[in-house]
Amino acid sequence: MSDATYTSADYTMGYSEEFRQMLEWRSAESHATYLLPHLAPGQSLLDFGCGPGTITVGLARAVAPGALHGIDMEESQIELARAAAASGGHDNATFHVGDVTRLPFDDDTFDVAHCHTVLTHVPDTQATLREVRRVVKAGGLIASREMIAEASFMSPVPESLEGAWETLGNLISANRGHPQMGKELKASFVEAGLSDVRASASFDVFGTPKDIAFLYNVAVGWFLSPEVVEAATKYGLATQEQFDEWRRHIDEWKGDPGAFGCIAFGQCLGTNP
Ligand SMILES: C[S@@+](CC[C@H](N)C(=O)[O-])C[C@H]1O[C@@H](n2cnc3c(N)ncnc32)[C@H](O)[C@@H]1O
Repeated sequence: MSDATYTSADYTMGYSEEFRQMLEWRSAESHATYLLPHLAPGQSLLDFGCGPGTITVGLARAVAPGALHGIDMEESQIELARAAAASGGHDNATFHVGDVTRLPFDDDTFDVAHCHTVLTHVPDTQATLREVRRVVKAGGLIASREMIAEASFMSPVPESLEGAWETLGNLISANRGHPQMGKELKASFVEAGLSDVRASASFDVFGTPKDIAFLYNVAVGWFLSPEVVEAATKYGLATQEQFDEWRRHIDEWKGDPGAFGCIAFGQCLGTNP
């Protein structure tokens, strides 16, 4: 299958209500901390792979009255993003259904381009960055925050549950994605010809009882859902018995007063020369 045929059907996370809750939990203030100090009123900003727009609306607030454009290949997500912008009164935000490797914008349109957990999924990283560079002005900023599956964890858990993170990574790879993209961002930005490349890292932290309940619900409602189990077993990445065992361990983890979890991310800023 060539990259040109990559569609919503190839996107590992899918668009279920359970996974949407994970995205709804995000905001620019919590998930684009590394970028916000570089934003200023009046800038034009592209959020590519914006999903339901929960980070996007905070970016819209930061650059208002500058124009913010969000784009995602999945119409249902764009509808959610439009609703989020309308209810927040972000009239500087416009949303489009489209592919990040074929952006519907002229050359040199934006001061800033941002994405969050998107390069993890798109097969051809360099083709995407080339296209993003095309629409960003010379001297403009490109920013991305992406997951590092192998550095993410739930604790305390038996060793067997670590295989669940590996299976998630293998599933993303089977769909031609990059489960460790957060680690590879700096090298990818340098390879794409960006200058002044600055890489850092951060965690989404799940420590309070509310956080633990939230991560548990996403793990059970999304990762252990029949759709994901079917995909993983179809690719031969895990058996039904392993998923059943992981369910038991995740249930135990949730009831453990010492339960703690982190999702690891790499984040990077680069200048379009
Ligand atoms: C994990 S979600 C992240 C959404 C949002 N950035 C966030 O962090 O809340 C990844 C999004 O990228 C979109 N996506 C993946 N590949 C794409 C492509 N080639 N063109 C446009 N959107 C794409 C998916 O539809 C999905 O909404």
